[in-house]
Amino acid sequence: MRKHIVAGNWKMNKTFEEADDLINDIMDKLEGLTLDRNTELVICPPFPYLEMASEYGDESYFAVGAQDVSEQDSGAYTGEVSAAMLESLELTYCIVGHSERRAYHHETDEIVARKVDQLLKYNLRPIVCCGEVLQEREEGRQFDVVKKQITDGLFHLSAEQFANIVIAYEPVWAIGTGKTATPEQAQEIHAFIRGLIAEKYGKEVADETSILYGGSCKPSNAKELFANPDVDGGLIGGASLKADDFIAIATAF
Ligand code: 13P
Repeated sequence: MRKHIVAGNWKMNKTFEEADDLINDIMDKLEGLTLDRNTELVICPPFPYLEMASEYGDESYFAVGAQDVSEQDSGAYTGEVSAAMLESLELTYCIVGHSERRAYHHETDEIVARKVDQLLKYNLRPIVCCGEVLQEREEGRQFDVVKKQITDGLFHLSAEQFANIVIAYEPVWAIGTGKTATPEQAQEIHAFIRGLIAEKYGKEVADETSILYGGSCKPSNAKELFANPDVDGGLIGGASLKADDFIAIATAF
């Protein structure tokens, strides 16, 4: 049975002390809570806090992921962070191809593909983001857009490699806007993505792939989103910055 995953993408928020407080708050609230045994909690803080989060993660119930990685292996790439470095912190996950990186850092599907290769080389699980902008949805092009992102970013992998991939469908018009995809809209495109994976790698691989929803997911709408058969959890932005909200979402299955 594929995993349910609730991952918090903190983006560029929190000072060191605030990050420490938030992690402690999350751990306190997790004490005595029984999460569905099939649900994995992941936190993705900014780079400078990964070591701290990873140390806490050892003793607690969450895995830790980075928000980005270099497409290069090592060397003279000022400011970049390599997959080898992330592996040396014993992280589990790394987000790749977030729409904010695609928009502000000109990250193409080809770059996403190279980052995915780096992560797999160093035994990290990529959480690969896809999703259309508002105009593309209004023109009914969401399926074509997502198909291209998935095909060009991921379909060079072998089936064995693909088994490590987590996909996050994040319609760009729903990110940080308070507008959420309806449960029907989310289910429709998640089922479409699973169909693409089945066509390429077979039904067994598709059935084992966790596909997360992201975009203004909060305690008030998580339950109806996660109730869909092809929605396997969420990639949470704003609501992951408050322990209560994050835990409420994690227990919404
Ligand atoms: P919000 O939950 O703040 O809309 O952000 C979603 C997101 O981009 C997670 O990666």
